[in-house]
Amino acid sequence: MNRLLDAALDRTIVGGYSRAGYALRARGFAPLPRLDGATVAVTGATSGLGLAAAQGFARLGARTILVARDPERGEQARAATAEHGTAELRIADLARLDDVRRLATQLQDTDILINNAGVLPPHHTLTVDGHELTFAVNVLAPFLLTALLPNARRVITVSSGGMYAQKLDVADLDSTAGDFSGTKAYAKSKRAEVVLNELWAQRGRPGMHAMHPGWVDTPGLQRSLHTFHSIAKPILRTPQQGADTIVFLGAIDPSPPSGRFWSDRRQRPTHYLPTTHETPEARQQLWDACVTRTQAPVA
Ligand SMILES: NC(=O)c1ccc[n+]([C@@H]2O[C@H](COP(=O)([O-])OP(=O)(O)OC[C@H]3O[C@@H](n4cnc5c(N)ncnc54)[C@H](OP(=O)(O)O)[C@@H]3O)[C@@H](O)[C@H]2O)c1
Repeated sequence: MNRLLDAALDRTIVGGYSRAGYALRARGFAPLPRLDGATVAVTGATSGLGLAAAQGFARLGARTILVARDPERGEQARAATAEHGTAELRIADLARLDDVRRLATQLQDTDILINNAGVLPPHHTLTVDGHELTFAVNVLAPFLLTALLPNARRVITVSSGGMYAQKLDVADLDSTAGDFSGTKAYAKSKRAEVVLNELWAQRGRPGMHAMHPGWVDTPGLQRSLHTFHSIAKPILRTPQQGADTIVFLGAIDPSPPSGRFWSDRRQRPTHYLPTTHETPEARQQLWDACVTRTQAPVA
């Protein structure tokens, strides 16, 4: 698709994020290279985008490792993925930093890490480590896992178009100010994910890619944004459509430049609003807070 038309579609939001937008763009998508011999680890692989991504990687020949917190749901997803290729299961609760550390010891041979697990909780909840749950699962866990897997040659972070509405908020990472809004905490965490992706790249880590999948019909969306899900259902993407760019970023050869933000196989802007730009100081504070809270082995 012509680049101008493609960018215009993105700005209409409904056009760019819906299944119609995907269908239009996908007409120009080329088949992806095989990933035989590569090991891909996918967090949040029990349902929705994570499961679809795991199956996509398995179909390309990768040894696919599904990460799940619930052994039963994890085994169901592993079996569903094994129908497409090689699938293994690892168990970890990403809301617990000790579990993330234990998981990292089991994923040392990972070539491609997919930081997909995400939450949008209705209430303010603190984890056992004392961090707000959204920030813990969506930001701290992938940050620590990325730091503990320095040999992963690609790391793909599943962010959200919801981050376009939020500025990086380092003053209230745990969303304690005012009444708790799950959607706001979620959007803030998704903005932080994109900033961290850029910061990893600036610090010299290759293969860092963040993306948003559009609006996708998943159990997570149905549970956390119930009204939106029922209104928008006819135009929502399938999990496979939403996961396409995750698999694309893992498979495309050579890897695109590190630190960029993607959707539907194209690089996208990280800001549409003039009010959401953060300062270099705020970016540094986010990095420092993640290092302090996770004790990640990075400078
Ligand atoms: N659906 C959309 O329209 C949309 C749009 C933009 C971005 N996204 C992003 O896409 C990603 C996947 O979301 P989804 O829509 O596919 O939702 P989903 O179906 O609810 O999947 C979320 C996954 O994360 C896992 N998870 C949650 N908390 C966890 C924890 N503490 N430890 C380990 N795993 C945990 C869930 O496991 P359980 O089965 O154990 O709950 C599940 O496998 C998220 O990062 C989300 O923000 C989705």
